[in-house]
Amino acid sequence: MAVDTKVPQAAVAPSRSKKRTSSVLLKIIMAVTGIMLILFLYLHMIGNLKIFFGEEAFDHYAHWLRTIATPLLPKTWFLWIQRGGLTVAVIAHIASAVILARRASAARPVKYVHRPKVQGSYAARTMRWGGVIVLLFVIFHILDLTTGTLNPVGDKAHPYANVVADFALDRWYVTLFYTLAIVAVGFHLRHGIFSAVRTLGQQTARGERIARASALVLSVVLVVGYLSVPFAVMTGLVD
Ligand code: HEM
Repeated sequence: MAVDTKVPQAAVAPSRSKKRTSSVLLKIIMAVTGIMLILFLYLHMIGNLKIFFGEEAFDHYAHWLRTIATPLLPKTWFLWIQRGGLTVAVIAHIASAVILARRASAARPVKYVHRPKVQGSYAARTMRWGGVIVLLFVIFHILDLTTGTLNPVGDKAHPYANVVADFALDRWYVTLFYTLAIVAVGFHLRHGIFSAVRTLGQQTARGERIARASALVLSVVLVVGYLSVPFAVMTGLVD
C-alpha cells in the first residue's frame, strides 16, 4: 500500500524558516563579537611588544591605557567602557555558541554511535574546550597582571616588573600555562576567523581559500607575537 509521506509545505515552512533566520542572526552575532575580540587581542599583543622598548616605554604605555580619551572623558572611563564592551561581547559570543551547538545536536535525530572520523579540522573540533581554556586563562590572567593578586610582584604602578617576575625561569609552570592558553587562542582564532569570513564574506571556492589563508596567517602572527614576551623574559632578552 502506498503511504503518502508528503508533509504539507505550509505546515513546516514558516517555523523552519523562522528558526533558520535566527540561527543566521546568531552566527552573525558570533562573527561580529568574535571580530571585536580579535581586534582587542591584536591591539593587546601589539601593546605587549612595547616591552622590547624597555621598562619606561612599557610602563608609560600601561599608564596611557588608563588615560585614553582624556580630557574628553574622566580618567579610566574609556578603560571601563572597553571592559564593559568586552564582557558583553564574550557573553554574547558564548551564549550564541551554546544555542547554536544545542540546535545542531537537536537537529541530529539519532546520536552517533561512533564519532565520525572526519569532523573538519582539528581547530573546529577543539572550539568548545579551547574556548573553556581561554576563559579560565583570562580569569587567571586578570588576577595575575591586572589586579596583581597572583603575581609575585603585583605592583600596579610597575607592570614591566610584574611581567618580568611572572615569566622568571623558576616559574616555568606559569609560562607553560600561558603557552598552552595562547596556543589554544591560536587554534580557536583559526577556526573562528575562518567561520566569520565565511559567514560575512563570499561563499565561493575562492572566498573559502581566502578565509582559510587569512585565518592561518592572522592566528600564527598573534600566537608568535604573544609568546615572544614570556620567552624573551625566560631567555633573559628582557629583564
Ligand atoms: C604573554 C602574553 C600576554 C602578556 C604579557 C599580557 C600582559 C598583560 C598586562 C601587563 C596586562 C595589564 C595591563 C594593565 O592594566 O596595566 C594585561 C591585561 C589583560 N590582558 Fe593580557 N597579556 C598577555 C596575553 C593575553 C591574552 C592571550 C589575552 C586574552 C585571551 C589577554 C587578555 C587580557 C585582558 C582581558 C586584560 C585586562 C585588561 C583590563 O585591564 O581591562 N592577555 N595583559
